[in-house]
Amino acid sequence: MTMNILIINGPNLQLLGQREPDVYGAATLKDVESQLASVASSLNVKTGFFQSNSEGGIVDRIAAAKSEGVDGIIINPAAYTHTSVAIRDALAAVSIPSVEIHISNVHAREEFRQKSLTAPVCVGQISGFGTDGYEWALRALVNYLNKNKK
Ligand code: DQA
Repeated sequence: MTMNILIINGPNLQLLGQREPDVYGAATLKDVESQLASVASSLNVKTGFFQSNSEGGIVDRIAAAKSEGVDGIIINPAAYTHTSVAIRDALAAVSIPSVEIHISNVHAREEFRQKSLTAPVCVGQISGFGTDGYEWALRALVNYLNKNKK
């Protein structure tokens, strides 16, 4: 059966390309999504995309993923990474293998960005490779899912 991967982007990531380009680069969210869709088709996996500025919207989307049979989640929770017990609990509740991705290297930035509430409930984290990191997250997650098939 075709693997089904959901890619979730949190607040302000709809502004990619315009937003602090020195930190987040020139690619737009549409560019990132089409790059991911083409990598996904070469890997023979299906992708779905979701972006929300609302914490509750992200929590609802994660919960819905369970009943949709999503196999894996790639998530950039953006600022909610550092604050959201609710998103962490949602990821833990569905227990769908997830990879956290950050465009910038959050560990090299302000102290408040160095703590992630969500990373501990993910398989792993990719941080600091620009928007290319989404592709590395997808490849890593697909490999992980193939090796840990139930
Ligand atoms: C980010 C890093 C977060 O600290 C920040 O709030 C973002 C983007 C990143 O992708 O580098 O919005 O998640």
